Amino acid sequence: MVFFIVGVIFVPIGVVSLLAARDVVEIIDRYDEACVPSNMTDNKLAYIQNETISKECIRNLTVTKHMKQPIFVYYELDNFYQNHRRYVKSRNDAQLRDKRKANQTSACEPEKTTANGQPIVPCGLIAWSLFNDTYSFTRGGATLDPEIPLSEQEDLIVWMRTAALPTFRKLYGRIYFDLKENETITVRLSNNYNTYSFGGKKKLVLSTATWLGGKNDFLGFAYLIVGGFCIFLAFAFTLLYFIKPRKLGDHNYLSWNRNSAGR
Ligand SMILES: *[C@@H]1O[C@H](CO)[C@@H](O)[C@H](O)[C@H]1NC(C)=O
Ligand SMILES: *[C@@H]1O[C@H](CO)[C@@H](O)[C@H](O)[C@H]1NC(C)=O
Ligand SMILES: *[C@@H]1O[C@H](CO)[C@@H](O)[C@H](O)[C@H]1NC(C)=O
Ligand SMILES: *[C@@H]1O[C@H](CO)[C@@H](O)[C@H](O)[C@H]1NC(C)=O
Ligand SMILES: *[C@@H]1O[C@H](CO)[C@@H](O)[C@H](O)[C@H]1NC(C)=O
Ligand SMILES: *[C@@H]1O[C@H](CO)[C@@H](O)[C@H](O)[C@H]1NC(C)=O
Repeated sequence: MVFFIVGVIFVPIGVVSLLAARDVVEIIDRYDEACVPSNMTDNKLAYIQNETISKECIRNLTVTKHMKQPIFVYYELDNFYQNHRRYVKSRNDAQLRDKRKANQTSACEPEKTTANGQPIVPCGLIAWSLFNDTYSFTRGGATLDPEIPLSEQEDLIVWMRTAALPTFRKLYGRIYFDLKENETITVRLSNNYNTYSFGGKKKLVLSTATWLGGKNDFLGFAYLIVGGFCIFLAFAFTLLYFIKPRKLGDHNYLSWNRNSAGR
């Protein structure tokens, strides 16, 4: 009975979650390859490391479906192992917390001090590798710059909350305009961040939100599977409850019959 109730509650929740996730509109633009000038595609490292080459890059995105505000702007990194042990440990929380402890750079190897022995603030691999691409958006002459909810300090905090998976999204900003279907938005971006050295991908993601958050089918499927399983168990138990006793009864009846026949 309990299983049946749980099942009856979970299955509709699952269906509603899946429908909500389907309503989320996402625009995903991978730009790390496209932003390399055509005469440098064979030498991406030389491009990203050469400070005299402009890293400005223009991308046109077409809105596939009407997008209601607020629209979340994320950057997505792929093949980026923020969970590597050596990487995760390369930080000094005391230095981060307190300006006067700038000299505390223990555990920050290999990004501890500059060539002339001055401490690096903030020190450590995580802080050193802070994502620094920037985006600005225009639409038919009007700017729709994202409201950037995070200060530089908070950006670092988000970044230092290291991701557990090699593909992850982090929030860049929010756009408080609706985007209409078939509209083209122009993104002017600064392609500063070097993912070429490890073959990582960079993507810009614009996504609407639902009451569930972003586009995520997992929750819906989880509810459906658990709910379905509960209903299955409820039926199985019901069958066992009603059928098995009768079978046992039959069996007893037969053996009793055989005994009496033998007598
Ligand atoms: C690539 O082309 C640009 C102009 O389009 C030029 O300024 C630059 O020097 C070229 N780079 C190489 C490596 O040829
Ligand atoms: C950087 O690029 C410029 C122009 O494309 C080129 O003249 C220069 O040699 C490059 N520098 C390095 C270190 O490759
Ligand atoms: C983007 O659109 C603008 C104007 O519509 C156009 O001038 C520009 O060439 C386009 N850029 C790309 C990379 O397609
Ligand atoms: C850090 O150490 C250097 C010398 O090692 C010293 O000159 C500097 O004052 C120290 N800074 C702080 C904030 O303690
Ligand atoms: C972005 O960060 C990289 C290191 O990850 C650095 O080499 C580059 O100079 C930075 N660019 C800007 C514009 O801050
Ligand atoms: C968007 O473009 C498609 C194909 O070009 C067209 O079928 C559709 O009606 C357009 N939608 C709007 C709202 O203009």
